Amino acid sequence: MSTCCYKDSSKPVEKRIKDLIGRMTVEEKLGQLNQIYRGSDNPLPAEFAIQVRNGKIGSFIWGYAQPELRNQMQRVAVEESRLGIPLIFGMDIIHGARTIFPIAPAMAGAFEPELLERAQAVAAKEARAQGLEWVFAPMCDLARDARWGRVAETCGEDPYLSALCNAAQVRGFQGDDPGSGEHLAACLKHYVGYSSPRGGRDYSDTEITEWTLRNAHLPSFHAAINAGALTVMSSFNAIGGIPAVANRHTLTEILREEWKFKGFVVSDWNAVIEAVSWGYAKDHAEAARLAICAGNDMDMLSTSYYRTLAKQIEDGTVPMAVVDEAVRRVLRVKFQVGLFDRPYVDAAAYESAILRPEYLALARESVVKSTVLLKNEGVLPLSRKIRKIALIGPFGDDQTEMLGCWQGNGEPKDVVTIASGLKDKFGSKISLAVVKGCSVSTEPRMKMLQDGSTVIDDSVPMDNAGITLKEAVSAAKNADVVIMAVGEPKGITGEGGSRATLTLTGRQQELFDAVARCGRPVVTIVFSGRTLTLPEVFDKSAAVLFAWQPGIQAGNGLADLISGDAAPSARLSMSVPYEVGQVPLYYNHYVTGRRSGGVYRDGVPTAARFWFGYGLTYTKFEYSDIKIVSGKKGKPAEAVAVISNKGRRKGVETVQLYIRQLACNEGARPMQELRGFKRVALKPGESAEVRFPLTSEVLGYVDRKGNMRVDKGDFHVWIAPHARYGEPLVYSHK
Ligand code: GLC
Repeated sequence: MSTCCYKDSSKPVEKRIKDLIGRMTVEEKLGQLNQIYRGSDNPLPAEFAIQVRNGKIGSFIWGYAQPELRNQMQRVAVEESRLGIPLIFGMDIIHGARTIFPIAPAMAGAFEPELLERAQAVAAKEARAQGLEWVFAPMCDLARDARWGRVAETCGEDPYLSALCNAAQVRGFQGDDPGSGEHLAACLKHYVGYSSPRGGRDYSDTEITEWTLRNAHLPSFHAAINAGALTVMSSFNAIGGIPAVANRHTLTEILREEWKFKGFVVSDWNAVIEAVSWGYAKDHAEAARLAICAGNDMDMLSTSYYRTLAKQIEDGTVPMAVVDEAVRRVLRVKFQVGLFDRPYVDAAAYESAILRPEYLALARESVVKSTVLLKNEGVLPLSRKIRKIALIGPFGDDQTEMLGCWQGNGEPKDVVTIASGLKDKFGSKISLAVVKGCSVSTEPRMKMLQDGSTVIDDSVPMDNAGITLKEAVSAAKNADVVIMAVGEPKGITGEGGSRATLTLTGRQQELFDAVARCGRPVVTIVFSGRTLTLPEVFDKSAAVLFAWQPGIQAGNGLADLISGDAAPSARLSMSVPYEVGQVPLYYNHYVTGRRSGGVYRDGVPTAARFWFGYGLTYTKFEYSDIKIVSGKKGKPAEAVAVISNKGRRKGVETVQLYIRQLACNEGARPMQELRGFKRVALKPGESAEVRFPLTSEVLGYVDRKGNMRVDKGDFHVWIAPHARYGEPLVYSHK
């Protein structure tokens, strides 16, 4: 009797899968499609162990770094169940496992995809060490509406930048061998179209045409699939009334038939049975049938597959072949991440596998490269003559807020705050007064006046810490420069974090205004999971750094920038509106048949305050000799420019290539599309030529059938420091 083929690591994976499936009962097959949540840190729930022993569970969402408990549960699966099929453990590791990096829109703003790859490679090592083989990242959704809190997980509003960054994240997570013990399976989410919810309200419906789906929402997923992603997560939204979990067009026709994806698709949390509340399925059984037949392989949390499919297989409404194919895909990934041959993790090695010095150094480098300088009237980097700094605001010395909206296993105690970073940087050379001023989300105490109007009652302490404006104002008056640390609390960003306004929360605006009236130069650092409308902050600050949610090295990275030991180079991955009424607002919109004019009737501009791609440095770059050079001997034409550093400091300029196809009969194309960028480092007085070949990939688009196309005809071409800059060149593509 030959040894059990599926247990024989010398055999090809497909043979092992075939042998194993042939041995499985229907219940054991459905068990592999059943994922359960174990988020609490109490001892293993005995009931789960019984279900695992009976082959009813194939995967856990394992929310805590407890490698020993994880091994204990794995032993039940591998050593006590009939076939010994290992569990796969997954979790949301979005911008770090224990070493927490800046959130994705910040990292994308570095315009350096390799940075994301390096960061996610660290996350993979730490996650694997805690016993995870699967992370629910990267989020490939396109940010189009800042009211939607989950823009904090995206790589911004541009499909091209998002595609490069998400492919890089997959490479970081999976490496060349996801089973190597230092890598793991990525999961592209949320497939697809989740990020254009009506009204910016999370979980609401999205109406997306095939044209927009193909050219705005799908490119990032396609690039990440081509980078080898092993899994995909279907999303909560519905397109045209069809919930994504049961959308055969996206899950099978596009993902499988066009893109040849071989991994598996997991639903989002309970999304299978939510097809009932959508009014798409009549009950859990029908929801399960519609989902698995559309191409959703694994059921997260609802247990509807396990509970209802056996009977539907028996009565023929769900073909066994469909279930077998789903099981095959899940088993294939379990083999690919090495679970059959190495099902356990070395629990004793966990503590030495996290927070390594080189990881912290990378986190610090990431803060420097992802913090955007939006304004600077010469106050940054700080002058050496500065002796007294007042750091004011609820984000100045708060370890928790820096961790961001998906903090994985990140711990506040690991965080270097702004206050600590400044103290370490400047030591005794500078006296630093740190004043919280108010809490991030104190609701203002209001008082009613005789005339019935309500105003903020500033005699009432700003928050339960009894801090009032007075302490902040006196610190500001006594300082040479003020650093304000304000923003939106991490708790209202990310999932479920929809807002109807984009202003500072609590009484921060009042605090900022009072401090700004003191007449000292104000450097404002904004912490947020989304772009915010901050007219007074942008107008009254002498400098503004947009730090997003910067992670555990926030203080050191920001101190590097403020002191001038490092120079900012980041760009906005999302456009910044003047007012929330402009949203959804993104740079790559259509020209349309007629311009809507520069302002709304109430005087609010229709343009962004800061467009996608915008960001300042500590020097001054000049663009010259911008031209199109025709191609020779079959080579493509090139857009060329000379970039010169005209300032007194070295710097890195992110040179961007934008195009617009002037007439496209398949469908009008956006007024600008980013199709290339290069980071150019120049010393003062240096110049460099930058060349962008105008290839088919640069000029092309995806038609409604999913084919890449490039048309002959005229294009506008820009080489620019950000969107909406300068006049385009005209290029006629033959
Ligand atoms: C959540 C999120 C998804 C996450 C999953 C597991 O509802 O939508 O992004 O990966 O559940 O936590």
